[in-house]
Amino acid sequence: MCGIVGFSGTRQAAPVLIDGLRRLEYRGYDSAGVAVADGEEIHIAKVKGYVKNLSDLTHDGADIRGLVGVGHTRWATHGAPNDINAHPHLSSDGRFAVVHNGIIENYASLRQELTKKGIRFVSDTDTEVVAHLLEVYYDGDPKKAVMRAAARLEGSYSLGIVCLDGSGRLFALREQSPLILGLGVGENYFASDVAALVPHTKNVIYLDDGEFAELTADTVTVYDVRGKTIDKPVSRVNWDVEAAEKGGYEHFMLKEIMEQPACFKATVEPRIKNDRIEFENFDLTDEELKSIDRIIITACGSAGYAGQVGRYVIEELCRIPVSVELASELRYRNPIINERTLLIVISQSGETADTIAAMRECKARGARTLAIVNVVGSTIAKLADHVIYTWAGPEIAVATTKGYTTQVAVLDLLAVYLADRLGLMTPERYSALITAIHDMPGKLQRAIDLNRGIKKLAKRLCNHNDIYFIGRNLDYAVCMEGALKLKEISYIFAEAYAAGELKHGTIALIDQGSLVVALACHEPLFDKTMSNIEEVKARGAQVLAVALEDDRQILKKADDFILVPRTEPILNPIAQVIPLQLFAYYVAKERGCDIDKPKNLAKSVTVE
Ligand code: AGP
Repeated sequence: MCGIVGFSGTRQAAPVLIDGLRRLEYRGYDSAGVAVADGEEIHIAKVKGYVKNLSDLTHDGADIRGLVGVGHTRWATHGAPNDINAHPHLSSDGRFAVVHNGIIENYASLRQELTKKGIRFVSDTDTEVVAHLLEVYYDGDPKKAVMRAAARLEGSYSLGIVCLDGSGRLFALREQSPLILGLGVGENYFASDVAALVPHTKNVIYLDDGEFAELTADTVTVYDVRGKTIDKPVSRVNWDVEAAEKGGYEHFMLKEIMEQPACFKATVEPRIKNDRIEFENFDLTDEELKSIDRIIITACGSAGYAGQVGRYVIEELCRIPVSVELASELRYRNPIINERTLLIVISQSGETADTIAAMRECKARGARTLAIVNVVGSTIAKLADHVIYTWAGPEIAVATTKGYTTQVAVLDLLAVYLADRLGLMTPERYSALITAIHDMPGKLQRAIDLNRGIKKLAKRLCNHNDIYFIGRNLDYAVCMEGALKLKEISYIFAEAYAAGELKHGTIALIDQGSLVVALACHEPLFDKTMSNIEEVKARGAQVLAVALEDDRQILKKADDFILVPRTEPILNPIAQVIPLQLFAYYVAKERGCDIDKPKNLAKSVTVE
């Protein structure tokens, strides 16, 4: 995924563009660049690495004059991260500069066609073909050139284009990749994410697939794919710029970990009115609900691991078969799906390519779709029949924390709601669960407070090269997320393993000093997990136990322990994961890793 921004106004564009790129850097940070038109020419500055490198190169944009321009921060798909492959890309005649998020899938054939026309390519990117197509199709009318070039493209892309025709015009196009317009006073903007727009305006327009916009300092016009003007609603962003700032924390990840009690509350409380659960956009009739004979949860990464928690809880309460399917597998598996299948699609960004593709595949086969997403107006939110937002606010750190826990919170709430509607829950049980849900923000704060000393534990354990997370049932689902958190920010190999499965092979890897993180909060299987702890200790393992704060038994067996507050069992994964997030954070810090921008990763993978 990449971040693109555009500005047209009456002040210098480059500093505004670079500030916008800083707020989108979580989307990719392989290289950064800006292109600004000053009426005479388009000035381009671009460089490998972080946006800071671009800022240093241009004195934070002061060296580049011009009132209209585009900017880009890259997560490389085609072409290595270097200065030449950095965006923006210029047409040979210098009239157009282009920034791009996504993939032009037919770029090779277009490149071949343009090369035959005598065009000389300078980069290895797919994006450069757009700049040259614009040049080829330009006959004095940039809008027509944009439409003709766009008609040749296949794939998923959002494009920002600045044209040197003196009009101060910008063009923004959306095809399966987010693009939002910002409406200012005497200036207008576009960006991949509202985080880059909020410092200037909260009045935004979400473009839909196939639409494009023409922006000047004073006008914003939106067109459909045929070039016909269309009216689009203006939305109001409901959070402030400081929500996307670090707020005094060293890293966004730590800030977002600490925000989780409040994010749980913000996500859940508005859906409980007079102690009854209500969803604003999930209006299945009783008949439709009763017709559902299976639920498939599909997602990628941590969103999939949230789905693993949801699977145990929904099956337990609703007695409907639930499976969790990796989106990248489901999309190609020729799945057996029909109108009695409820597909739950989980995604923080709402833009993950594999998840979108799996969703389209299942919709085409008749599945009813419910999306659990964090980004309002995202592609998955728009595609779904029903949407339940996780109101976690903008999540900037690449490693998700509040995105995951609010996904689990929604899944828990949904399970209780469905069980009640299916007549599978007594009023007393329902009421007890509602009370437990109301108590959770306090419990989550306690999960943070109980682990203020985890930094020392992380310091002591940060040099292990491979770590095993074991657990059963809900504990096992949390192991998956705990292992991923550690892998993706500390680069330590970690694997989640069903505790009962270890003895069927992997225990061969347990040696003197192997570190095993044993999650033992799921009380119905506590004794079984204790046996597994004995098994690994008998082979020399060092055991870090994750246990309920009032469990004294496990403390006799574990070498170290992380304590978790006692909560309603189906809610416990949300409390359990918090110390594992903190553990991963402090281990990564000890290892000097770039916690908010881990190597090779991006916040949302909008390509296959
Ligand atoms: C989570 O820490 C990772 N960054 C990654 O696994 C992420 O959860 C996955 O790419 C799915 O992203 P989404 O929730 O935006 O769809």
